Amino acid sequence: MAGMPGMAFQQPEDFVISDPSQAINVLDFEAAARKALPPAHWGYLSTGVDDDATLKANREAFTHYQLRSRRLVETNNIDMSVDLFGTKWETPIVLAPSGTLFHPEGPLPVARAAQKQKTLQILGGVQERNHPIAEVMKARGGPVWYQLYASQDLANTQQTVKRIEASGCPVLVWTVDILGGRNLETAQRLRRSDTRQCLSCHMTDPQVRPGGPGRNTLTYDTLKRIRDATSMKVLVKGIENPEDADLCVQNGADGIIVSNHGGRATESGRATIDSLPEVIQVVRNRVPVLVDGGFRRGTDVFKALALGARAICIGRPYMWGVASFGQPGVETVLAIMRREFNLVMAQCGKKSIAEITPASIIKKI
Ligand SMILES: Cc1cc2nc3c(=O)[nH]c(=O)nc-3n(C[C@H](O)[C@H](O)[C@H](O)COP(=O)(O)O)c2cc1C
Repeated sequence: MAGMPGMAFQQPEDFVISDPSQAINVLDFEAAARKALPPAHWGYLSTGVDDDATLKANREAFTHYQLRSRRLVETNNIDMSVDLFGTKWETPIVLAPSGTLFHPEGPLPVARAAQKQKTLQILGGVQERNHPIAEVMKARGGPVWYQLYASQDLANTQQTVKRIEASGCPVLVWTVDILGGRNLETAQRLRRSDTRQCLSCHMTDPQVRPGGPGRNTLTYDTLKRIRDATSMKVLVKGIENPEDADLCVQNGADGIIVSNHGGRATESGRATIDSLPEVIQVVRNRVPVLVDGGFRRGTDVFKALALGARAICIGRPYMWGVASFGQPGVETVLAIMRREFNLVMAQCGKKSIAEITPASIIKKI
């Protein structure tokens, strides 16, 4: 097509943004992060499990749902705000926890960006080892939620929970989806092409090898005990099956995050947006349900809310942002997601989140 009138400014396919302001959508940060990171780090960030089928399903399944656009509906002053446990947030877009953030300051630039964009941040418990929650809250200028990996030793977990509660954290998010081990194949493959010694930079060697045969001893009884050990709200993250969702509620969970760890836990082949409706059905509004996995567009957010989610979390988009450009990268990712979601609300004639209902979308047959 070269030389055709009007095509003179066509962007080469391998164009990679060199500044957040050049991003047209959040996917532009993926290539920027890939360029910025060494192969082993990129492998860990991008990997799914096994054949990456669940990772791909998370994105692809958004096409199973279609929007019902509306015309000639007045939509001045769209209100995107949501309430989560008595706190009002400007948008339903939340920063998912990460144990690994490819930035020398870890969760701090993310926290600063969250403050600028008035966004809820869930701090990964693994990050907290190097950046205590008080330091992150200071950078955030307010409370963050804390994500827990419970130890098999309950006393140890209860101690962590008490310490986190004392920091003023209002919500504990217990992640339960990788207790049986996992097989991060892409991460292993790309690590082979990286000649550096991990331990020359990190204090620990990231475990990308498959976990052993499931040795999990944590159960719904553990949930009850964690629940009883704290006055914080307790959410369970990593639920896909409605049977589990019901047991979570029965055992005292204050909320559920439907998640497959961004396709990094079980190779279920099932997208979270497809798991969401049956979880919503069994939970019957007893507690709020959040969801993550593959959210890259304002339309994705809209679809999840129409299916009954209270809020959604983004993972890799902001991790790409911080890896490539630090705080401004995360800020821009959040600003783009917010702008796109606002646009979809206007296109579908919605002035508030409450107006987004199951009738706002159609499931493709
Ligand atoms: C590099 C990386 C590290 C992660 N670390 C954690 C973690 O420590 N704890 C946790 O609950 N989830 C973790 N997750 C999962 C995210 O919280 C979230 O569920 C997932 O990224 C959402 O999917 P998305 O990346 O497609 O947006 C991690 C995800 C990635 C990509």
